[in-house]
Amino acid sequence: NHPNGTKLPVLLLTRRFPDAVTARAARDYRIIVNDDDHAYGPDEIAAKAKGADAVMVSAVDKIPGDLIRALPDSVRMIATFSVGTDHIDLAAAKERGIVVSNTPGVLTDATADIALLLLLGAARRASEGERLIREDRWEGWAPTHLVGVHVTGKRLAILGMGRIGQAVARRARGFDMEIHYHNRRRLPAGEELGAVYHADADDLLAVADFLSIHSPASPETHHWLNAERIARLPDGAVVVNTARGSVVDDEALIAALASGKLAAAGLDVFENEPRLHPGYAPLANTFLLPHLGSATDQTRDAMGFTALNNLDAFFAGRDLPNRVV
Ligand code: DGY
Repeated sequence: NHPNGTKLPVLLLTRRFPDAVTARAARDYRIIVNDDDHAYGPDEIAAKAKGADAVMVSAVDKIPGDLIRALPDSVRMIATFSVGTDHIDLAAAKERGIVVSNTPGVLTDATADIALLLLLGAARRASEGERLIREDRWEGWAPTHLVGVHVTGKRLAILGMGRIGQAVARRARGFDMEIHYHNRRRLPAGEELGAVYHADADDLLAVADFLSIHSPASPETHHWLNAERIARLPDGAVVVNTARGSVVDDEALIAALASGKLAAAGLDVFENEPRLHPGYAPLANTFLLPHLGSATDQTRDAMGFTALNNLDAFFAGRDLPNRVV
């Protein structure tokens, strides 16, 4: 019980969250923890949620409609430790009257940083070079060795100009890149960044020396970057994805990287994480990271505190700062 005598709500934490987050959760909730931090399947989440008033999930916990309907009646809220909500069947949550919150804003900078890391790393063949050194195969500097794609002054095409897309644009301006974007609507922030708006995504592709993907996973964006759209990119373009793997058709991207149509790709997200399409790893022109966009100490704490702020608001009967449903 709380020192003031009220009963603490019961909160299931589906993963091991940062220590400071767990400590705060333990102060204000009776928590059910995932001792060994393995990824729960749907049946396990439903079983662990017995007696819980709320569940804090991560982006890799799949919460389909069947699971939502199988959750105990006591569960009234799901707070996801992520900005993305594509892992949750929001319509089913709404139908059952379960409130859902997410964590927008706090991971913008960390994710934009990773997009730039991928852009630079893919363009400049960082992964190939690093492997060469680690495997003791480096034979010394040479004028034509590991020559990559020049970045400064090139055109960066941003698909999805939300918070993260804008943060990428701000960073890319520091590299004197020319910014172009496609978004459902034209944004004043785009003008402020000196970015050129393309109402038609195909027009964006045509100018993309670099394409950076920042649109959420949805039925509309599923396999959006397919063979037809890749064909519209200039030869030698570089593709970067820090959004969701499902936005890219792996077969098409792999074929374009293998044929040399695309110079390189920097990818932090994959369609069936943690499994990768087997075509990526053997390609020297891929720079691959294991979904690290938000992985900084400060950001992960902030994500957890944001999730808790939403839970606190819910149980105090206040409006949620980041209510999704
Ligand atoms: C998110 O927040 O949606 C990321 O993919 C995980 O950090």
